[in-house]
Amino acid sequence: MATWSKASLIVAAIFLLGSASVAHGRSRRFIRSYDEPCKEMTLYFHDIIYDFSNSTSNSTSAVVAKPTALLQSMNTSVFGTMVVFNDPMTEGKALPPSLEETTVRAQGLYFYNKKQSPADAWFAFSIVFNSTAHRGTLNLMGADLVSETTRDFSVVGGTGDFFMARGVASVCGDAVEGFTYFRLQMDIKLYECYV
Ligand SMILES: *[C@@H]1O[C@H](CO)[C@@H](O)[C@H](O)[C@H]1NC(C)=O
Ligand SMILES: *[C@@H]1O[C@H](CO)[C@@H](O)[C@H](O)[C@H]1NC(C)=O
Ligand SMILES: *[C@@H]1O[C@H](CO)[C@@H](O)[C@H](O)[C@H]1NC(C)=O
Ligand SMILES: *[C@@H]1O[C@H](CO)[C@@H](O)[C@H](O)[C@H]1NC(C)=O
Repeated sequence: MATWSKASLIVAAIFLLGSASVAHGRSRRFIRSYDEPCKEMTLYFHDIIYDFSNSTSNSTSAVVAKPTALLQSMNTSVFGTMVVFNDPMTEGKALPPSLEETTVRAQGLYFYNKKQSPADAWFAFSIVFNSTAHRGTLNLMGADLVSETTRDFSVVGGTGDFFMARGVASVCGDAVEGFTYFRLQMDIKLYECYV
């Protein structure tokens, strides 16, 4: 093993990955390049939060945890608040005319996990693609450190068109409307993909 050069290990790895793509039934190539992304896209995440009114038709996310004693003992914190969402995602900033027919959705949760205000959040979700351009999922998770203008979520995997994808999504706030709506810009860069 010690006599193997780095290059021959890489060749062996490429050979093995090549066989995997044949086994997968398509002649796709696996690309791993940490200097330059093999795929890039920008998507906007629209979180339309249920506002406790009777009109629930537009809401795509809701708080699902009740305040705890820990929360009540603090003045401003939202510590422990958990939000479950099935949010539309779009290529442009505008909301689609019909939320039901959105072909890219973010499905998952975030919760606030910092006692002090403003509170950081933690996200875990799948981006589900069901359009003519893409079918499959990307799975993301990471800390939303609100004091940082841009924070990075890990793209930890994917399925379908994004089979075995990995990368990083740089996330920044793009719009906030009170407690009922915010929009995040997500610049997704994949460094491992089948193309
Ligand atoms: C919400 O619905 C309940 C029950 O139908 C009704 O009593 C209440 O007045 C409604 N509230 C608003 C703000 O429309
Ligand atoms: C839902 O969204 C539509 C389109 O943006 C808007 O016309 C309508 O007023 C919204 N309804 C509620 C209850 O917010
Ligand atoms: C909450 O606010 C009150 C009044 O401003 C202050 O006396 C108290 O120390 C604060 N409590 C905490 C946990 O920050
Ligand atoms: C994907 O789109 C097709 C065609 O529009 C639809 O029939 C199907 O229900 C969608 N699947 C999901 C998981 O949304």
